[in-house]
Amino acid sequence: MSAEESSQAGPPPQLVRTLVEGPAPVASLEWHAEVDSTNVRAAELARAGAPEIAVVGAEHQSAGRGRMGRVWSAPPRSSLTFSLLLRPPVAAEALPLLPLLAGLALAEVAGRYCTQVEVGLKWPNDLLIDGRKAAGVLVESAEAGAVVVGIGLNTDWRGIERWDELADAISLAEASQFPIDRWRVLAALLGVFAQRYEVFKDLPAAFLDGYRARCLTIGRAVRVERVAGEPLLGEAVGVDASGALEVRDAAGTLHRLSAGDVHHLR
Ligand code: BTN
Repeated sequence: MSAEESSQAGPPPQLVRTLVEGPAPVASLEWHAEVDSTNVRAAELARAGAPEIAVVGAEHQSAGRGRMGRVWSAPPRSSLTFSLLLRPPVAAEALPLLPLLAGLALAEVAGRYCTQVEVGLKWPNDLLIDGRKAAGVLVESAEAGAVVVGIGLNTDWRGIERWDELADAISLAEASQFPIDRWRVLAALLGVFAQRYEVFKDLPAAFLDGYRARCLTIGRAVRVERVAGEPLLGEAVGVDASGALEVRDAAGTLHRLSAGDVHHLR
């Protein structure tokens, strides 16, 4: 793939054909110059009856969404911002595992590029490279039975000035020993995710040991901003079969958290 293709506004047609016609179960792929949010567009596709896996990407999102009500923004061509429409044929209790599954796929692909630095996950699904955030995942439910998995991955932020909340962000190109071709990264991510998702459909928790091995939160002192109530301080001791983070506080009480914003301490 040429450098020109790598920086163009959308994957090369040949790659799209390979993904949609090849063995990975990608039913459709659309790439926009600009949308409000690829998660919103994927939810529209869900309402229109699109089959899984529908992929929606964009060069620019005017209203990109992050976790916990935050905004997600990235300069054009600096990142991969896309969403997957899924129709997971699993029990409702297994759905909270999907963000972790997406996180694991991100860590596995990033680990292929970044071989000299630590690549892992901050629970539930922040990709950390050398301790700095390189990607995030926002999973939202769409119409009945449909789920949208939105992924924002910093691919090349070299020479880009970072604003306050992104001061500590890192991109694959900065951490990698290899040139970054965004479309190859996209193809790898879709391939790894789709492979793991096929197993998930039959055995939802089968990937969890792989996730735990990549989860940098386990064993750390943490502060967790909970959806409601006071922040929790303690040690993260595990991730249970439902995907919840287990945190033991100073009094020895074990808390199971299904949502929250984790800060690694020390
Ligand atoms: C996070 O806060 O860490 C999650 C960020 C998720 C951002 C992605 S970018 C593609 C998709 N569309 C959105 O509006 N958000 C997700």
